[in-house]
Amino acid sequence: MSHDAVPDPLVDALHRHTDYGSEELEESDVADDPIAQFTAWLAEAADRGVYEPNAMVLSTIDPDGAPSIRTVLLRGVDERGFEFYTDYTSRKGRALLANPAVAVVFPWYTLHRQVIVFGEANPVERKASDDYFAHRPRGAQIAAWASDQSQPIASREALERKVHDAEERFVDADVVPRPERWGGFRIAPHRVEFWQGRTSRLHDRLVFRAAVGGGWELERIQP
Ligand SMILES: Cc1cc2nc3c(=O)[nH]c(=O)nc-3n(C[C@H](O)[C@H](O)[C@H](O)COP(=O)(O)O)c2cc1C
Repeated sequence: MSHDAVPDPLVDALHRHTDYGSEELEESDVADDPIAQFTAWLAEAADRGVYEPNAMVLSTIDPDGAPSIRTVLLRGVDERGFEFYTDYTSRKGRALLANPAVAVVFPWYTLHRQVIVFGEANPVERKASDDYFAHRPRGAQIAAWASDQSQPIASREALERKVHDAEERFVDADVVPRPERWGGFRIAPHRVEFWQGRTSRLHDRLVFRAAVGGGWELERIQP
């Protein structure tokens, strides 16, 4: 076999030119508001087998002005916005409590789609966090007590000791209470972009912008 014929996965990964296909996104296809359009696409992503369709990549602004980023899971969406749960004392939690500005991407690559949300994330009502925490598996509830998210720890063993201590603490408790530092944020969107990949990189991009007097304006932007 000649050298040229040996497939190199790294070269392949870097130099693919996948055609993003035949689906289109016309102004007449989208709902009147971005939440309705998003929920339709999320349901479709789930239905068409996207792995973790509710996973979103969330960027925030640290107190020194630098961006930071990570994946979180969307746990609720309605006309108030996009809800996720985390540790308020984590890096993202502290960033958001100081500056609620966020950008989020739902990367549904296998559908040749992405949705990008710009907005402000504020803590949800305590009751919403209580209710959501109460429905988590007990192991996840214990982990929320054991882990001071984003803080350094000496070793895996040290983390497992903290889990053990939390299990001991609640051994007789039927219900594990929500740690005060754990809860939800809800992102109120002011701009939502729906991106549909098309042939020759001439993708469709339709953007909902919050209008001054309420409601939404729809605009197409270039790919
Ligand atoms: C698929 C996936 C889903 C995740 N979901 C969450 C989540 O819902 N909440 C959360 O706090 N962290 C979640 N994480 C972990 C975060 O990406 C991140 O490591 C953690 O929240 C700490 O981020 P920070 O140090 O920037 O605050 C998830 C990670 C992955 C890969």
